Amino acid sequence: MKSDEAKIPRHVGIIMDGNGRWATRRMLPRTAGHRAGVKNITPVVSAAFDVGVECVTLYAFSTENRGRDKAEVDALIDLIRKRLKPMTRELIARGAHVVFSGDTSYFPDDVQQIMSEIAAENVDGYEKTVNIALDYGGREEIVRAAKLASESGEVTAQSFERGLYTYGLPDLDMIVRTGGEKRLSNFLLYQAAYAELFFTDTLWPDFGGEELAEMFCQYNKRTRRFGK
Ligand code: FPP
Repeated sequence: MKSDEAKIPRHVGIIMDGNGRWATRRMLPRTAGHRAGVKNITPVVSAAFDVGVECVTLYAFSTENRGRDKAEVDALIDLIRKRLKPMTRELIARGAHVVFSGDTSYFPDDVQQIMSEIAAENVDGYEKTVNIALDYGGREEIVRAAKLASESGEVTAQSFERGLYTYGLPDLDMIVRTGGEKRLSNFLLYQAAYAELFFTDTLWPDFGGEELAEMFCQYNKRTRRFGK
Protein backbone atom coordinates (compact mmCIF):
# COMPACT_ATOMS: atom_id res chain seq x y z
CA MET A 1 0.00 0.00 0.00
CA LYS A 2 1.33 3.47 -0.88
CA SER A 3 1.95 5.68 2.17
CA ASP A 4 -0.61 8.29 0.99
CA GLU A 5 -3.33 5.67 0.42
CA ALA A 6 -6.18 5.60 2.96
CA LYS A 7 -6.24 2.53 5.21
CA ILE A 8 -9.76 1.20 5.30
CA PRO A 9 -10.75 -1.27 8.03
CA ARG A 10 -11.90 -4.51 6.37
CA HIS A 11 -14.12 -5.58 9.26
CA VAL A 12 -15.92 -3.21 11.64
CA GLY A 13 -17.91 -4.35 14.70
CA ILE A 14 -20.63 -2.05 16.03
CA ILE A 15 -22.03 -2.08 19.58
CA MET A 16 -25.31 -0.24 19.10
CA ASP A 17 -25.84 1.20 22.58
CA GLY A 18 -28.11 3.98 23.80
CA ASN A 19 -31.50 3.10 22.30
CA GLY A 20 -33.21 3.10 25.69
CA ARG A 21 -31.83 6.51 26.71
CA TRP A 22 -32.68 7.95 23.30
CA ALA A 23 -36.32 6.97 23.91
CA THR A 24 -36.44 7.99 27.58
CA ARG A 25 -35.15 11.48 26.71
CA ARG A 26 -38.13 11.80 24.39
CA MET A 27 -40.51 10.41 27.01
CA LEU A 28 -41.09 7.39 24.79
CA PRO A 29 -41.05 3.72 25.80
CA ARG A 30 -37.62 2.03 25.46
CA THR A 31 -38.95 -0.09 22.62
CA ALA A 32 -39.37 3.10 20.55
CA GLY A 33 -35.62 3.54 20.94
CA HIS A 34 -34.98 0.03 19.65
CA ARG A 35 -37.27 0.73 16.68
CA ALA A 36 -35.30 3.92 15.93
CA GLY A 37 -32.12 1.87 16.34
CA VAL A 38 -33.18 -0.63 13.69
CA LYS A 39 -33.95 2.22 11.25
CA ASN A 40 -30.41 3.47 11.70
CA ILE A 41 -28.73 0.20 10.72
CA THR A 42 -28.98 0.32 6.91
CA PRO A 43 -27.73 3.93 6.55
CA VAL A 44 -24.72 3.36 8.82
CA VAL A 45 -23.80 0.00 7.25
CA SER A 46 -24.20 1.55 3.78
CA ALA A 47 -21.89 4.44 4.76
CA ALA A 48 -19.28 1.89 5.89
CA PHE A 49 -19.61 -0.09 2.64
CA ASP A 50 -19.34 3.12 0.59
CA VAL A 51 -15.83 3.79 1.89
CA GLY A 52 -14.72 0.21 1.22
CA VAL A 53 -15.38 -1.69 4.47
CA GLU A 54 -15.98 -5.35 3.53
CA CYS A 55 -17.73 -6.66 6.60
CA VAL A 56 -19.82 -5.15 9.42
CA THR A 57 -20.77 -7.13 12.52
CA LEU A 58 -23.75 -5.71 14.44
CA TYR A 59 -24.31 -6.55 18.12
CA ALA A 60 -28.09 -6.84 17.97
CA PHE A 61 -28.92 -9.12 20.94
CA SER A 62 -26.43 -10.38 23.51
CA THR A 63 -26.71 -13.49 25.68
CA GLU A 64 -26.94 -11.04 28.62
CA ASN A 65 -29.89 -9.20 27.01
CA ARG A 66 -31.96 -12.32 27.86
CA GLY A 67 -31.86 -11.09 31.46
CA ARG A 68 -33.72 -7.82 30.78
CA ASP A 69 -37.37 -7.39 31.78
CA LYS A 70 -39.51 -9.99 30.04
CA ALA A 71 -41.54 -7.23 28.38
CA GLU A 72 -38.39 -5.68 26.86
CA VAL A 73 -36.99 -9.06 25.74
CA ASP A 74 -40.35 -9.91 24.15
CA ALA A 75 -40.43 -6.51 22.44
CA LEU A 76 -36.87 -6.99 21.11
CA ILE A 77 -37.74 -10.46 19.81
CA ASP A 78 -40.88 -9.06 18.20
CA LEU A 79 -38.83 -6.32 16.55
CA ILE A 80 -36.47 -8.96 15.17
CA ARG A 81 -39.52 -10.94 14.00
CA LYS A 82 -40.97 -7.92 12.16
CA ARG A 83 -37.94 -5.95 11.00
CA LEU A 84 -35.12 -8.44 10.40
CA LYS A 85 -36.30 -9.53 6.96
CA PRO A 86 -37.08 -6.05 5.52
CA MET A 87 -33.79 -4.74 6.93
CA THR A 88 -31.67 -7.58 5.57
CA ARG A 89 -33.44 -7.32 2.18
CA GLU A 90 -32.25 -3.70 1.98
CA LEU A 91 -28.72 -4.85 2.77
CA ILE A 92 -28.84 -7.77 0.32
CA ALA A 93 -30.09 -5.31 -2.34
CA ARG A 94 -26.91 -3.30 -1.66
CA GLY A 95 -24.82 -6.35 -2.52
CA ALA A 96 -24.32 -7.72 0.98
CA HIS A 97 -24.32 -11.31 2.15
CA VAL A 98 -26.07 -11.69 5.52
CA VAL A 99 -24.84 -14.15 8.14
CA PHE A 100 -25.65 -14.64 11.81
CA SER A 101 -23.46 -15.23 14.86
CA GLY A 102 -24.78 -16.64 18.10
CA ASP A 103 -26.89 -19.42 19.54
CA THR A 104 -29.95 -18.70 17.43
CA SER A 105 -31.75 -21.75 18.91
CA TYR A 106 -32.71 -19.40 21.79
CA PHE A 107 -35.25 -17.66 19.56
CA PRO A 108 -38.80 -18.90 18.93
CA ASP A 109 -39.19 -21.25 15.94
CA ASP A 110 -40.81 -18.64 13.71
CA VAL A 111 -37.87 -16.24 14.26
CA GLN A 112 -35.38 -19.04 13.51
CA GLN A 113 -37.38 -19.74 10.36
CA ILE A 114 -37.05 -16.07 9.33
CA MET A 115 -33.27 -16.34 9.78
CA SER A 116 -33.14 -19.45 7.56
CA GLU A 117 -35.23 -17.68 4.92
CA ILE A 118 -32.86 -14.72 4.99
CA ALA A 119 -29.84 -17.01 4.59
CA ALA A 120 -31.55 -18.51 1.54
CA GLU A 121 -32.05 -15.06 -0.02
CA ASN A 122 -28.32 -14.42 -0.16
CA VAL A 123 -27.00 -14.25 -3.70
CA ASP A 124 -23.66 -15.37 -5.11
CA GLY A 125 -20.98 -12.91 -6.11
CA TYR A 126 -21.31 -10.71 -3.04
CA GLU A 127 -18.54 -8.35 -2.02
CA LYS A 128 -19.80 -7.28 1.39
CA THR A 129 -20.93 -9.14 4.49
CA VAL A 130 -23.25 -8.14 7.29
CA ASN A 131 -22.86 -10.40 10.30
CA ILE A 132 -25.71 -9.99 12.78
CA ALA A 133 -24.88 -11.13 16.31
CA LEU A 134 -28.08 -12.51 17.81
CA ASP A 135 -28.02 -14.22 21.19
CA TYR A 136 -24.29 -13.76 20.92
CA GLY A 137 -21.83 -13.80 23.81
CA GLY A 138 -18.05 -13.74 23.41
CA ARG A 139 -17.37 -16.08 26.33
CA GLU A 140 -19.96 -18.59 25.14
CA GLU A 141 -18.38 -18.45 21.66
CA ILE A 142 -14.89 -19.13 23.09
CA VAL A 143 -16.09 -22.11 25.15
CA ARG A 144 -17.95 -23.48 22.13
CA ALA A 145 -14.91 -23.08 19.84
CA ALA A 146 -12.65 -24.74 22.44
CA LYS A 147 -15.05 -27.72 22.72
CA LEU A 148 -15.28 -28.08 18.93
CA ALA A 149 -11.49 -27.89 18.59
CA SER A 150 -10.90 -30.52 21.27
CA GLU A 151 -13.50 -32.83 19.70
CA SER A 152 -11.71 -32.49 16.36
CA GLY A 153 -8.34 -33.55 17.82
CA GLU A 154 -5.51 -31.16 18.57
CA VAL A 155 -6.38 -27.71 19.92
CA THR A 156 -4.44 -25.16 17.88
CA ALA A 157 -5.20 -21.55 16.96
CA GLN A 158 -6.36 -22.82 13.57
CA SER A 159 -8.66 -25.57 14.86
CA PHE A 160 -10.00 -23.16 17.50
CA GLU A 161 -10.74 -20.40 14.98
CA ARG A 162 -12.67 -22.83 12.81
CA GLY A 163 -15.19 -23.07 15.66
CA LEU A 164 -15.77 -19.32 15.95
CA TYR A 165 -19.02 -17.95 14.55
CA THR A 166 -16.94 -15.47 12.54
CA TYR A 167 -14.80 -18.15 10.85
CA GLY A 168 -14.19 -17.10 7.24
CA LEU A 169 -14.76 -13.38 7.87
CA PRO A 170 -11.83 -10.94 7.68
CA ASP A 171 -9.97 -10.16 10.91
CA LEU A 172 -11.71 -7.54 13.03
CA ASP A 173 -9.99 -4.16 12.55
CA MET A 174 -12.22 -1.73 14.38
CA ILE A 175 -14.97 -1.66 17.01
CA VAL A 176 -17.34 1.29 17.35
CA ARG A 177 -19.41 1.62 20.52
CA THR A 178 -22.08 4.30 20.77
CA GLY A 179 -23.87 5.41 23.93
CA GLY A 180 -20.94 6.55 26.09
CA GLU A 181 -19.81 3.32 27.79
CA LYS A 182 -16.20 2.33 27.25
CA ARG A 183 -16.19 -1.44 27.40
CA LEU A 184 -16.63 -4.45 25.11
CA SER A 185 -19.52 -6.09 26.99
CA ASN A 186 -18.70 -9.62 25.80
CA PHE A 187 -18.56 -8.60 22.12
CA LEU A 188 -16.10 -10.46 19.85
CA LEU A 189 -13.63 -10.99 22.71
CA TYR A 190 -11.25 -13.25 20.80
CA GLN A 191 -11.53 -11.29 17.54
CA ALA A 192 -10.95 -7.94 19.30
CA ALA A 193 -7.30 -8.78 20.09
CA TYR A 194 -5.90 -6.13 17.73
CA ALA A 195 -9.01 -4.15 16.85
CA GLU A 196 -8.85 -0.37 17.13
CA LEU A 197 -11.50 0.82 19.58
CA PHE A 198 -13.70 3.88 19.06
CA PHE A 199 -16.18 5.17 21.63
CA THR A 200 -18.69 7.98 21.27
CA ASP A 201 -21.31 9.49 23.57
CA THR A 202 -23.75 9.70 20.67
CA LEU A 203 -26.73 7.41 21.23
CA TRP A 204 -27.11 4.74 18.53
CA PRO A 205 -30.26 6.16 16.83
CA ASP A 206 -28.43 9.51 16.41
CA PHE A 207 -25.16 8.04 15.15
CA GLY A 208 -24.56 8.72 11.46
CA GLY A 209 -22.25 8.54 8.50
CA GLU A 210 -20.53 11.83 9.31
CA GLU A 211 -19.31 10.65 12.71
CA LEU A 212 -18.35 7.29 11.24
CA ALA A 213 -16.31 9.09 8.54
CA GLU A 214 -14.48 11.02 11.29
CA MET A 215 -13.68 7.70 13.01
CA PHE A 216 -12.30 6.33 9.74
CA CYS A 217 -10.03 9.43 9.54
CA GLN A 218 -8.80 8.74 13.08
CA TYR A 219 -8.32 5.04 12.24
CA ASN A 220 -6.20 6.11 9.33
CA LYS A 221 -3.91 8.07 11.64
CA ARG A 222 -3.36 5.21 14.07
CA THR A 223 -0.28 3.03 13.71
CA ARG A 224 -1.13 -0.66 14.05
CA ARG A 225 1.92 -2.61 15.16
CA PHE A 226 0.23 -5.87 16.19
CA GLY A 227 2.65 -6.10 19.09
CA LYS A 228 5.74 -5.81 16.90
C1 FPP B 1 -28.56 -1.24 23.49
O1 FPP B 1 -29.34 -0.13 23.88
C2 FPP B 1 -29.21 -1.93 22.40
C3 FPP B 1 -29.72 -3.17 22.49
C4 FPP B 1 -29.71 -3.98 23.70
C5 FPP B 1 -30.39 -3.79 21.36
C6 FPP B 1 -29.91 -3.36 20.02
C7 FPP B 1 -30.88 -3.89 19.07
C8 FPP B 1 -31.31 -3.29 17.97
C9 FPP B 1 -30.80 -2.00 17.45
C10 FPP B 1 -32.38 -3.95 17.18
C11 FPP B 1 -32.06 -5.31 16.68
C12 FPP B 1 -33.06 -5.69 15.71
C13 FPP B 1 -32.82 -6.10 14.46
C14 FPP B 1 -33.97 -6.31 13.57
C15 FPP B 1 -31.46 -6.37 13.96
P1 FPP B 1 -29.84 -0.08 25.37
O2 FPP B 1 -31.23 -0.58 25.39
O3 FPP B 1 -28.90 -0.79 26.28
O4 FPP B 1 -29.83 1.46 25.62
P2 FPP B 1 -29.50 2.20 27.00
O5 FPP B 1 -28.06 1.89 27.32
O6 FPP B 1 -29.73 3.62 26.64
O7 FPP B 1 -30.47 1.67 28.01
